[in-house]
Amino acid sequence: MRTYTNVKDLGNLDQAIKEALEIKKNRYAYKHLGENKTLLMVFFNSSLRTRLSTQKAGMNLGMNTMVLDINQGAWKLETERGVIMDGDKSEHILEAIPVMGSYCDIIGVRAFAQFENKEDDYQEKILNQFIRYSGKPVFSMEAATGHPLQAFADLITIEEYKKTERPKVVLTWAPHPRALPQAVPNSFADFMNEANVDFVITHPEGYELDSKFVRGAKIEYNQDKAFEGADFIYAKNWAAYADPNYGKILSKDMSWTVSTEKMALTNNAYFMHCLPVRRNMIVTDDIIESPQSIVIPEAANREISAQTVIKRMLESL
Ligand code: CP
Repeated sequence: MRTYTNVKDLGNLDQAIKEALEIKKNRYAYKHLGENKTLLMVFFNSSLRTRLSTQKAGMNLGMNTMVLDINQGAWKLETERGVIMDGDKSEHILEAIPVMGSYCDIIGVRAFAQFENKEDDYQEKILNQFIRYSGKPVFSMEAATGHPLQAFADLITIEEYKKTERPKVVLTWAPHPRALPQAVPNSFADFMNEANVDFVITHPEGYELDSKFVRGAKIEYNQDKAFEGADFIYAKNWAAYADPNYGKILSKDMSWTVSTEKMALTNNAYFMHCLPVRRNMIVTDDIIESPQSIVIPEAANREISAQTVIKRMLESL
């Protein structure tokens, strides 16, 4: 595997889940693969889970790991060609990327949507420059339009907790005080559309996601109706995707918060969220602390999704 940015990069999804569950049973079995190999993780944005789980995954595989926080201690990077660099940006990303590539064997990159220009975000300008110029296998640790390590961990978690062969999985928008990118819901939809689940997306009108990710998924604008009979509720906020409102908050309607009353409509569903989560905006204290909440095992599976991807990259070196 040379790149990991979406579900297709995993090939056969059942096989990938099987491999991930095998790794989970014995996560140190492949320690020899990473001997004398270096993982570089480059962060343009903050992280708790991705940083720790990916570093742990690399260490499980016997790798040396390095972390670079671009906005803390590194030179400020210019990302556009043709710019006269007379401002505060000291280095161009076109030199920085191959230099980073020269120090490592595999690179993980986190670079969120900027919400300044939809085309730039949806072209994944930063991630794709790493893929093109680093000379090394590159995986997304959440880019502008996708978070495939999260979605893979989500699918592994659903596989572990499902009680029926084809569970009903509902992705629901929920309110948030800040404008958040569509990366998590995009990748979640990308994965659910390939998985053996009955997948429904619910959100207020105006929050439609890119059809490239939604594909044939059912859209239900009535959240109560969407929740009926659900086996998994996956909550997430995102800002508007459609023009002319790209990146804007259109609603903070608290009636979309996942609450005890909402969960009562489901088939005793499990509650999922990628974290970090704003309590009593996205989900009430009662639900996130309930036995139906699987947010902690879901986060723990981030180590497993990362390890599966890095293992495959090591095998391809
Ligand atoms: N879910 C997730 O990616 O968490 P972090 O932003 O803390 O890495």
